[in-house]
Amino acid sequence: MDTDTLKRLAAEAALDYIKPGMVVGVGTGSTSNHFIDALGKAKIAVDGYVPSSLGTAARLQALGLRVLELNDTGDIPIYVDGADEIDPHFRLIKGGGGALTREKIVASAAHRFLVIADQSKDRQQLGKFPLAVEVIPFAQSFVARQLVKLGGNPTLRQHFTTDNGNVILDVIGLDLTDPLAMESKINSIPGVLDNGIFALRRADIVLLGSPDGVLRRSNASQ
Ligand code: 5RP
Repeated sequence: MDTDTLKRLAAEAALDYIKPGMVVGVGTGSTSNHFIDALGKAKIAVDGYVPSSLGTAARLQALGLRVLELNDTGDIPIYVDGADEIDPHFRLIKGGGGALTREKIVASAAHRFLVIADQSKDRQQLGKFPLAVEVIPFAQSFVARQLVKLGGNPTLRQHFTTDNGNVILDVIGLDLTDPLAMESKINSIPGVLDNGIFALRRADIVLLGSPDGVLRRSNASQ
């Protein structure tokens, strides 16, 4: 089975968690797009969807699905999104699509954070995938120098502006053996809006598409 099929299987399995009357947070990326397509077909009578990016909002609307503003909903029961890396402690690297800041906000507003991915995203340790850092353009060079001091090698993502009007620095070489510490260290640099380490707000449930079916993992509290 190819990777895209495995992503679709995980995305379709997430429908089991979506119930009528819910407000559902929806992530960004190719796996989330499969989830949106599955929602379009399933026509579950939810209250509406909170998108984590303008692209996701447009895709939901194109299928006639009701889009809500996070500012109008309060906390939401569930957020479903993809990931670039997932470790055994449900910590994640996200941001390959550059939507990490809004993704982290919606994930943090959700009681349950469900991650959907193909099994290639399953890692013993985070840090192989370049870490996306969203930076206010004014601070780009300053932040890049601070990231070098932390042991990283940042590169400006070319021809890319986030939904918040900022730039992305993709960083390789950082030591992510303590993801929680690195998440907060990077976020304390003036000019950084957020970074793609999801250690403070980890996943609650992970659905991994594999050739043997969808593997389900829950953390202790779920
Ligand atoms: C976007 C993300 C995506 O969820 C992540 O990059 C995974 O993408 P895909 O589902 O296309 O593999 O964090 O900012």
